[in-house]
Amino acid sequence: MSIPTNIPARADSAGKPVATITPSFARDILPLFRVTDIQNMNTFGVRLGDHSWVSKPGNARHVLNHLMGTTPPRMPLGGPYWTDEQLKKFQEWMNAGYPP
Ligand code: HEM
Repeated sequence: MSIPTNIPARADSAGKPVATITPSFARDILPLFRVTDIQNMNTFGVRLGDHSWVSKPGNARHVLNHLMGTTPPRMPLGGPYWTDEQLKKFQEWMNAGYPP
């Protein structure tokens, strides 16, 4: 365990500190993929385990669309599908600018 360095100091309008944790691919997103997800999708050139691939905005959007089923077939093929909370986490990571 290393000490996280991506927690910026924030304060609310009254100057009270607010803990804000920036999403991280390594910490929050990568563990959501199973080994079988990464292996199966690598054969399609969908490199789920590779931040440099998933962080390309078009690739991230494509992955999210298949996770949600907006673009069929819904992934992971055969399920279990990601929970709303997991999908939200992925979206928050995208909104944060795809941090590593
Ligand atoms: C979280 C897990 C997964 C994600 C995010 C994911 C993502 C994707 C994406 C983005 C595509 C579209 C690829 C393209 O446009 O070329 C796709 C297609 C596909 N994936 Fe996955 N995948 C996952 C898990 C799996 C697993 C576990 C399997 C196999 C058991 C699988 C089998 C396939 C197949 C066969 C296609 C092609 C489907 C078609 O075009 O009809 N995927 N997946």
